Amino acid sequence: MWLFVVVAVLMKTPLPPRESGCFVAEHSQDVFVEEGGVQRVAEMLYALRKSEDLTASGWKKANPLAPSPTSDHAINWVFVVDTMNFSFWPEQEAQQCEVTYRSVTYRGYMTLCAAITRAMEEGIPITDPAYFSQISVEELGHVLRSDNNTFMPMLEERHQVLTEAGRILLQNGGSFRSFISPAGNDAKKMVELIVEKLPSYRDEATYKDKRISFYKRAQILVADFWGIMEARGAGDIPNLDFLTMFADYRVPQALVHLGALRYSETLMETLRNGELLRSGDRREVEIRGCSIWCVERIKAYLWSLVKERDDQSCNINSAVIDFYLWPYAKLHHEEMAHIPIHHTRCIYY
Ligand SMILES: *[C@@H]1O[C@H](CO)[C@@H](O)[C@H](O)[C@H]1NC(C)=O
Ligand SMILES: *[C@@H]1O[C@H](CO)[C@@H](O)[C@H](O)[C@H]1NC(C)=O
Repeated sequence: MWLFVVVAVLMKTPLPPRESGCFVAEHSQDVFVEEGGVQRVAEMLYALRKSEDLTASGWKKANPLAPSPTSDHAINWVFVVDTMNFSFWPEQEAQQCEVTYRSVTYRGYMTLCAAITRAMEEGIPITDPAYFSQISVEELGHVLRSDNNTFMPMLEERHQVLTEAGRILLQNGGSFRSFISPAGNDAKKMVELIVEKLPSYRDEATYKDKRISFYKRAQILVADFWGIMEARGAGDIPNLDFLTMFADYRVPQALVHLGALRYSETLMETLRNGELLRSGDRREVEIRGCSIWCVERIKAYLWSLVKERDDQSCNINSAVIDFYLWPYAKLHHEEMAHIPIHHTRCIYY
């Protein structure tokens, strides 16, 4: 009987990311959404509302290392990259994992993109599930090799999630396309299907006794799929508004920099000291949850501006705002260097 109750509680479906963000923001102790900053960011986006930067059609521009979106390699590439798209930050700033591809040296998440594209060029069928479901740790280590002795972190974990994902694709038609087709291109159903079938995508936590979710990689996978479809002129995907921002490291920092998010002094101090937050730590959950809610507030305010001033409805969704803020953060990283980034080692982001 008790076992049954425990299992039922553990199995309880978590709140979806948007509701999770709202719940966390309501109870947060160390991270706060600042309405003044939210409005300023919304004004900034309002001024850019007609630019290419606020659409999904610039997908290739944002993913220069990806195969052309018109080829089916693009979808497989995105799946492989997204499955291993986590934890690139170096143990020490001075020891960066770097991958040089076609004379350009990449760092961080781009090392993964460069490594996968390099492998394809070398004739390694890295985007084929029949291959990557069986790849050995050594082979994957070779694919992800860096220029020098600083390796990409978490090779074992990347190997585990990649081979597992490969096996699941093989059981579901043998490609991401066939795996995802039961969701009928609906963004909400796609996210649900991904997290139902692929354990490594279950980016969930418990906060104040509630099961919540962020689904960072699952949502990016869907957003990238949309980006590819959009580039093919077939981007009509229902329920895109289901997607929230993708809670990672860089966007929270940008939101703090822009004054839309605020960390308590204690949290600032903790992060400045470089303290590692365990995955699921209350503060880590607050940073991610409040970032989601912050972008939801920015979106709501932006929509109200467009309604009020242009008497139009606005179709800029949270994924697009994230697509804009991430490169913004990268571009302005020096100005915001004084705002510490949180550090968590996990497979979710
Ligand atoms: C990987 O993660 C980064 C950072 O969160 C994100 O900007 C990027 O779009 C992701 N890429 C893919 C292909 O999943
Ligand atoms: C690897 O090489 C880059 C320069 O190419 C350097 O910045 C980095 O510190 C090196 N790391 C190690 C461990 O040698």
